[in-house]
Amino acid sequence: MRILGIESSCDETGVAIHDSEGGLIAHALHSQASLHNEYGGVVPEIASRDHIRRLLPLVRAALRQAKGIDTQGAEGSDEGYGANPGIDAIAYTAGPGLAGALLVGACFAKSLAFAWGAPALGIHHLEGHLLAPMLEEDAPRFPFLALLVSGGHSQLVEAKGVGEYRVLGESLDDAAGEAFDKVATLLGLPYPGGPALARLAQAGDPHRFRFPRPMTDRPGLDFSFSGLKTCALDTLRKERRSRSGQGSDEGNGGDEALRADIARAFEDAVVDTMVIKCRRALRESGLSNLIVSGGVGANLRLRAALEEMARQENAELHCPRIEFCTDNGAMIAYAGSRRFSPDSASEKASGDAHSFGIRVRWRLEDLLPP
Ligand code: KG4
Ligand code: ZN
Repeated sequence: MRILGIESSCDETGVAIHDSEGGLIAHALHSQASLHNEYGGVVPEIASRDHIRRLLPLVRAALRQAKGIDTQGAEGSDEGYGANPGIDAIAYTAGPGLAGALLVGACFAKSLAFAWGAPALGIHHLEGHLLAPMLEEDAPRFPFLALLVSGGHSQLVEAKGVGEYRVLGESLDDAAGEAFDKVATLLGLPYPGGPALARLAQAGDPHRFRFPRPMTDRPGLDFSFSGLKTCALDTLRKERRSRSGQGSDEGNGGDEALRADIARAFEDAVVDTMVIKCRRALRESGLSNLIVSGGVGANLRLRAALEEMARQENAELHCPRIEFCTDNGAMIAYAGSRRFSPDSASEKASGDAHSFGIRVRWRLEDLLPP
């Protein structure tokens, strides 16, 4: 069984093919980061237009990569999309995400599905992230605890099976990735800020500033990251004022060190907070498998700290490879493979073949098992 996965919920266009026997047999990605860079964040209209430009070439590239697939009809010519190249279903991200960007992916997937006579499945973006570690050799088994930390969400989820999710805690304000991006912006770093901030933090002194670990001094598993942004801004302003008041002659070098030290203090606070909450969630739930996924899951300091905590708690940490932490088509193809059943396919294909719904907001807990 072969599933084509399409991701277009934000600023990455991802396409992949998952085969029930061969595993992930193709995966192609285009990041729009350079397009949004000059605006300091994702511009929805630019994102939608770029998805339109990228999807077809990426599908062609994925079909070429997939071995043993008949690509004659599909990529022989621009008109050649009539013949199904051996795809059993098309999985696309139906939400949550940017409305226009989601619509592009949904419309594209549904059209291709119609042309190929295959069913199309709308996938929840966060379920894609949550299942992404299962693409790896040391795939976790249900039940597990999931730390989902991306640009739009920060959640701790108990996952008992596909579609059996309970949110144990979540961010009350900024998502973790959003906080990384905002602090990066105030430190003068380019978009996307997370990776840039993590790089700058490597040169930072971990002892110069200590930021709070928000909401760890009370019970519960919710997060709050917006205060850390204010803390970073206050520290930057105060230190710059005192440096100029003292007539510091360190020049740019001093400011560079200050920015790196703030980046380090911020990163340490976020990582520490997540470790504390994950440890608490493991103990309270009795679970012994932890996964971390979503863009912030690519943060090396976070992965190392969670690994160490899991070892102390006799638990196991499972992570997707770095490139599958951030948005990608592979996780959508895989989620599709876990949700698709040939029995229900004809019903699904006939039921809503010509309509497509996207859900800009969509709670993970609203999902049902396949
Ligand atoms: O999952 P993702 O690609 O998109 C969403 O679903 O939102 O996550 C993107 C977020 C951005 O906020 C980005 O700055 C952050 O993940 N991110 C990181 C790192 N790599 C990406 N944050 C911290 N450290 C990183 N290495
Ligand atoms: Zn994501």
